[in-house]
Amino acid sequence: MTTLNPNHSTRAKMSSARIRDLKPSELPEVVMPACEVRPVLKGQTAIVTGASSGIGKGIAVALCAAGANVVINYIGNAAAAEETAHEATHCGCENRGEAVPVMADVSDESQVQGMFAQAIKKFGTVDIVINNAGLQQDAPLEEMTLAQWRKVIDVNLTGQFLCAREAVREFKRRGIREDVSCAAGKIVCISSVHEVIPWAGHVNYAASKGGIMMMMKSIAQEVAPWRIRVNSICPGAIRTPINRSAWETPEAYASLMKLIPYKRIGEPQDIARLAVWLCSDEADYITGASLFVDGGMTLYPGFETGG
Ligand code: BGC
Repeated sequence: MTTLNPNHSTRAKMSSARIRDLKPSELPEVVMPACEVRPVLKGQTAIVTGASSGIGKGIAVALCAAGANVVINYIGNAAAAEETAHEATHCGCENRGEAVPVMADVSDESQVQGMFAQAIKKFGTVDIVINNAGLQQDAPLEEMTLAQWRKVIDVNLTGQFLCAREAVREFKRRGIREDVSCAAGKIVCISSVHEVIPWAGHVNYAASKGGIMMMMKSIAQEVAPWRIRVNSICPGAIRTPINRSAWETPEAYASLMKLIPYKRIGEPQDIARLAVWLCSDEADYITGASLFVDGGMTLYPGFETGG
């Protein structure tokens, strides 16, 4: 786990100033405490889509550390997927699982079925699916092409549908294995704050995330009687390649902080830790929920002083 050194001089300033009143350059570094890794997913197999970078990579590494065998799904960058697998299997956790990269386009029905077949062949079954693969193709409405609209809906929404469908088929076929989990299976949809926050210039992306919300809840309602849990994690701004332009320069970071009451960008581990817990039996009574991990981005920050 990454632990960044606390900036002591900044910490001193924090005691006398509200975070809101600090300049971006004075904001404290994120101190991500090393968490105690417990093997809460031992004996289970997870598929993480889009796991070669960003949030997917963070989740794959964390699930593996918690004992799960992990299929590292990717589409284009085999070397990056290998790197995720390497990181996952060299985490130093004695109860860690195995990790294997599998290429598949989540928007392609037969490729998704092929990925599940490979996972089942290698690890015996699938217990957890993290529907993470997603992309942005931004444009003002009048300039957005039909191809851009379709691409984003195909990957972000149809891809999650296809993987959820295969997951439910496998969970029902196999049923509950009491020795590993009290649920027959868990699906976690990686949505976004934009399942509720409208986003000008990103109509395809926001529509895909709004769609994930109702897809997730409808599936959750349908499969709950089989003891299958389906939830969403809704990240805010997380430091990953998808939104590099929003955090990479001090000016961009300052502007981003206006949207985040907690005054820091999120890190992939912020999402990964919730994903591990949500898939564990400690979260057994949670289904159909959208859990926001966003430093308060959905709290209408403009109303802190206005209204
Ligand atoms: C998007 C990011 C954005 C964040 C907050 C995410 O879903 O992928 O680009 O920074 O939402 O707006």
